[in-house]
Amino acid sequence: MSLMKRILPLLLVMGLSMSAAYAESAPKVNKHKGYGVACSSCHTTGTSYTRPDDSICLGCHGSYAELAQKTAKLENIKAAVTNPHKSHIGEARCTGCHKNHGPSILMCNQCHSPKFDMKVP
Ligand code: HEC
Ligand code: HEC
Ligand code: HEC
Ligand code: HEC
Repeated sequence: MSLMKRILPLLLVMGLSMSAAYAESAPKVNKHKGYGVACSSCHTTGTSYTRPDDSICLGCHGSYAELAQKTAKLENIKAAVTNPHKSHIGEARCTGCHKNHGPSILMCNQCHSPKFDMKVP
């Protein structure tokens, strides 16, 4: 038996289980659901659920500068120096902090200790 004949059934099974995984993989958490945002507004390719680029988020949420204004005066942000949308790390990737399908994280705290106390929606 050639190698291809032997691995072909395996490849088919893998292919089938991968497409089945896509069909069944609607995540349990979808924070944007309540805002009437369709899956396809973020997952624009229609064929796979890859992580959307920041340009897609910004298309609805405005520029980084506008976001920075919104979060400049929040109580738990110290004199704007810890503004998550305007810091020394610059325009960091949205999904580094905001997770649509699970708990968000404050990635600043991967470096900073004592940790910043900011809740990420
Ligand atoms: C606000 C944008 C947004 C919307 C709306 C959205 N997603 Fe996602 N999705 C993401 C991001 C970002 C990721 C990458 C993982 C992460 O950061 O949570 C992702 C990842 C996924 C994944 C990969 C598995 C995972 O959890 O990482 C699947 C599957 C998925 N989304 C399905 C859906 C479906 C189905 C819907 C509609 C019911 C949907 N998504 C709506 C942003 C979105
Ligand atoms: C189709 C438009 C649309 C897209 C695309 C979109 N959002 Fe939103 N998002 C909204 C709306 C509408 C709200 C609710 C009103 C608000 O807070 O601005 C919201 C709310 C949010 C909130 C606040 C949640 C809360 O409960 O306070 C965050 C954080 C957020 N979005 C991040 C993201 C990120 C990150 C992406 C890209 C992965 C993204 N959004 C893509 C429309 C969108
Ligand atoms: C370093 C982490 C971090 C990154 C990166 C980040 N955010 Fe945020 N974001 C936060 C935190 C923290 C808050 C909440 C501030 C508060 O309410 O105390 C927030 C709040 C928000 C809100 C709600 C603002 C409001 O009060 O109406 C939106 C919308 C949002 N972010 C979108 C984005 C988008 C879009 C990107 C990428 C362009 C992004 N964020 C990048 C940490 C981050
Ligand atoms: C890759 C690691 C890293 C990340 C991620 C990071 N920082 Fe920093 N940050 C540093 C280093 C290193 C310094 C300089 C050392 C110092 O002065 O403490 C610093 C200094 C600072 C300072 C001035 C010193 C202080 O502690 O008051 C602030 C404010 C700050 N960072 C805020 C942030 C915020 C807000 C984020 C997330 C949006 C962030 N940093 C993400 C590494 C990081």
